[in-house]
Amino acid sequence: MGEVLRPHAEQEYAEELARLAEVDERVRPPGWRLSPWAVTEYLMGGELADGTVITPKYVGPRRLMEVAVATLATDRALLLLGVPGTAKTWVSEHLAAAISGDSTLLVQGTAGTPEEAVRYGWNYARLLAEGPSPEALVESPVMRAMRLGSVARIEELTRIPSDVQDALITILSEKTLPVPELNTEVQAHRGFTVIATANDRDRGVNELSSALRRRFNTVVLPVPGSAEEEVEIVARRVAQLGRALELPEAATGLAEIRRVVTVFRELRAGLTEDGRTKVKTPSGPLSTAEAISVITGGIALAAHFGDGELRASDVAAGVRGAVVQDAVSDRVVWQEYVETVVRERPEWADFYRACREVPA
Ligand SMILES: Nc1ncnc2c1ncn2[C@@H]1O[C@H](COP(=O)(O)OP(=O)(O)OP(=O)(O)O)[C@@H](O)[C@H]1O
Ligand SMILES: [Mg+2]
Repeated sequence: MGEVLRPHAEQEYAEELARLAEVDERVRPPGWRLSPWAVTEYLMGGELADGTVITPKYVGPRRLMEVAVATLATDRALLLLGVPGTAKTWVSEHLAAAISGDSTLLVQGTAGTPEEAVRYGWNYARLLAEGPSPEALVESPVMRAMRLGSVARIEELTRIPSDVQDALITILSEKTLPVPELNTEVQAHRGFTVIATANDRDRGVNELSSALRRRFNTVVLPVPGSAEEEVEIVARRVAQLGRALELPEAATGLAEIRRVVTVFRELRAGLTEDGRTKVKTPSGPLSTAEAISVITGGIALAAHFGDGELRASDVAAGVRGAVVQDAVSDRVVWQEYVETVVRERPEWADFYRACREVPA
């Protein structure tokens, strides 16, 4: 059997989680695999007393993770909010892995998410043949999480139609899911909670009802505070992804990572780092996640078609692709940036040349 392309967090970091569970002597909330301290340690990284190294998963303020973990230890659910690419999904997966040892109880929210995805559905062949029975019932990930006392994850909560969102209100406040067809209910076991994510840019699509919002504590994940922090995130993830994809070794190219992060930050802010030149901002978010894929793509180019060293010519097309999402307005933004900022930096001459060579 082949290896899976992307193991779940609880599989990939099984060893770290096992070590943490061994050394963790603090109180664990009912149904939790680890104490809140150990969950935060797993997220932020550190070194255990016995020398075991826990790799950082989230790079950013520790306090945010403490607030998120503390919320989950109460009877409230957690909503991770932020602009695209701020690690909402990533943090939610690792929280579920550390708390329940299972990050797979997932509902992907879309405008078409049906109520069955949050409550339960039926196997219609059996339903017709045998009538309603426990065997004919198809559990949703949320129902399963309630039964198992695990974390249920809901991605992009605000995209879900409001009547389906409302199904969550009973679950979160009564901690039970009635099944009138069978004249029973599924009661949530201890350890059950919900982690939802929502995108800032989607706000207003289906504003959360105030009844639902009251059942969530919101933690806003910010864009990385400084360029150094963002470079660290990109470098770390690129190295992990490169290993997982078994890309041929390419020199890590920290200089290129720094440059891509600088370009993204300047365009996001509409201002150069030295604060001297105003630039136009493009329509896309230019998130950290996009910087990660630009660099990963560049490394593949360098490794397979270049001399193995990540160079400006390997990232220029990717950067342009990330910036120019709208063919008309963003093209102007990019050209202006290249001619007024990139060109003026003598140490960026190679990048300037590479940008000019990208086919428009
Ligand atoms: N502060 C951070 N710490 C660690 N990794 C980060 C950070 N910010 C972004 N990343 C990385 O960015 C990638 C994308 O993150 P993720 O998919 O979780 O974003 P998201 O906030 O869910 O975005 P979207 O709104 O588009 O769904 C992940 O690989 C993650 O590792
Ligand atoms: Mg996401």
